[in-house]
Amino acid sequence: MYKILEKKVLAPAMKLMRIHAPLVARKAMPGQFIILRVMEGGERIPLTIADYNPSEGWVTIIFQEVGETTRDLGRLEEGDYIKDFVGPLGRASELDGFDSVLCIGGGVGTAPLYPQIKYMHEKGTKVDVIIGARSKDYVILEEPIRSNCSNLYIATDDGSYGQKGFVTDLLKQLIESGKKYDHIIAIGPMIMMKMVCKLTKEYGIPTTVSMNPIMVDGTGMCGGCRVSVDGKIKYACVDGPDFDGHLVDFDEAMRRSQMYKQEEQQKHDCNLLRMGGEL
Ligand SMILES: Cc1cc2nc3c(=O)[nH]c(=O)nc-3n(C[C@H](O)[C@H](O)[C@H](O)COP(=O)(O)OP(=O)(O)OC[C@H]3O[C@@H](n4cnc5c(N)ncnc54)[C@H](O)[C@@H]3O)c2cc1C
Ligand code: FES
Repeated sequence: MYKILEKKVLAPAMKLMRIHAPLVARKAMPGQFIILRVMEGGERIPLTIADYNPSEGWVTIIFQEVGETTRDLGRLEEGDYIKDFVGPLGRASELDGFDSVLCIGGGVGTAPLYPQIKYMHEKGTKVDVIIGARSKDYVILEEPIRSNCSNLYIATDDGSYGQKGFVTDLLKQLIESGKKYDHIIAIGPMIMMKMVCKLTKEYGIPTTVSMNPIMVDGTGMCGGCRVSVDGKIKYACVDGPDFDGHLVDFDEAMRRSQMYKQEEQQKHDCNLLRMGGEL
């Protein structure tokens, strides 16, 4: 059992939890994730390690409540326990050897980006960051990121904070104003990563993305997290989650992510009826 040491609401339906998990914290690296089960018999879901402290033995997760399991998790409070918390899983991000990197986070995708930004900043890499969000209320981790990067740019869809528009608008402006980056890292909704990669391909800037397909076992056995990269089959849980964004087949990945929508809705409806609700 894994104790929740701290819980914070970062944005509407977006929560941070600091979990006591010394073994995970000891081995964690930026880019890796955990798989948790909120309770006995519950679904296993993957969440990225958003921060970690090996000496104090804790790991932070930041999650958006999008379905049954993330909502069950969000109902737990400080002092409660999570049933299973397995990790670190996946390959650590390759972050060494760059001079100047632009990191682009969209929505909750800003959370997995944070340990990568911190790691590169501590190693002396020049890191610029773009955070994209629906509106001001959904901008997360602004202060910790600001203190670990050279320049922070913010874009909101409705213009309530930072520049009005998408992260790709800011990306284009930065490059066209003469900024030079030897690498770009983009994490966020699949469509955002696809559009960023389309642009960076035109500018010839290598780009890493973090894929978040449906995962079941997280060990390369079930095939659930299959993605096509350069025409070859890769498994995000063991070969990723980071991949060369210019080689990822985003259209196929987006189609696959919709595959279980009906089952998820049915599960939600069943639970609602069980609890005495109405459809
Ligand atoms: C490597 C990785 C890292 C992730 N990191 C984060 C993170 O840091 N924060 C965060 O908010 N979300 C993260 N996700 C997505 C998160 O796992 C899903 O939001 C969660 O599983 C939804 O479960 P649910 O039961 O609440 O919702 P459901 O109603 O079951 O599903 C809602 C949507 O979540 C996705 N999803 C559902 N089950 C899974 C699953 N087993 N594996 C992957 N995606 C699933 C699907 O797109 C689905 O349409 C990550 C996913 C992966 C693969
Ligand atoms: S989650 Fe089963 S192969 Fe990756």
